[in-house]
Amino acid sequence: MKILIALKVNGVLREVAVEPNRTLLDVIREEIGLTGTKKGCDEGDCGACTVLLQGKPVNACLVLALDARGKDIVTIEGLSGDGGFHPLQEAFLRYNAFQCGYCTPGMLMAAKAILDQNPSPTEQQVREGLVGNLCRCTNYSRIVQAVLSTAEGAVRP
Ligand code: FES
Ligand code: FES
Repeated sequence: MKILIALKVNGVLREVAVEPNRTLLDVIREEIGLTGTKKGCDEGDCGACTVLLQGKPVNACLVLALDARGKDIVTIEGLSGDGGFHPLQEAFLRYNAFQCGYCTPGMLMAAKAILDQNPSPTEQQVREGLVGNLCRCTNYSRIVQAVLSTAEGAVRP
């Protein structure tokens, strides 16, 4: 049995009919069509599916779509807001902080959450904030440096 719900994704209300056990990840990708949020492990281990729920990073594969009703959801498509690149995205490009890019949307959303909470994090705080986001093919140091370069007061190369 499906239930009609409204989800607020990137500031837009979307009505979708979902089974009660459907995850937010599957609804975002398959019903709403925002495929920037990636499915890796589908069991909460990799962080590829990270979105912001009420400003906090969550693994969308572990959240039921029903439980996201009435909450603000931000996906990678909503990161910049204006359609251009967000400074974090520019930094990832500048630092070559990705290879295949599969982990990148989740990394960026987790990084945004870190900086939203603390605009001037230490390297250790960035590493701790990204601990749930796994990358199989690039250098974590580049990702951390990209995030740090976007922090308030950072000297950009
Ligand atoms: S797909 Fe959700 S944590 Fe891996
Ligand atoms: S860039 Fe390939 S998994 Fe991270």
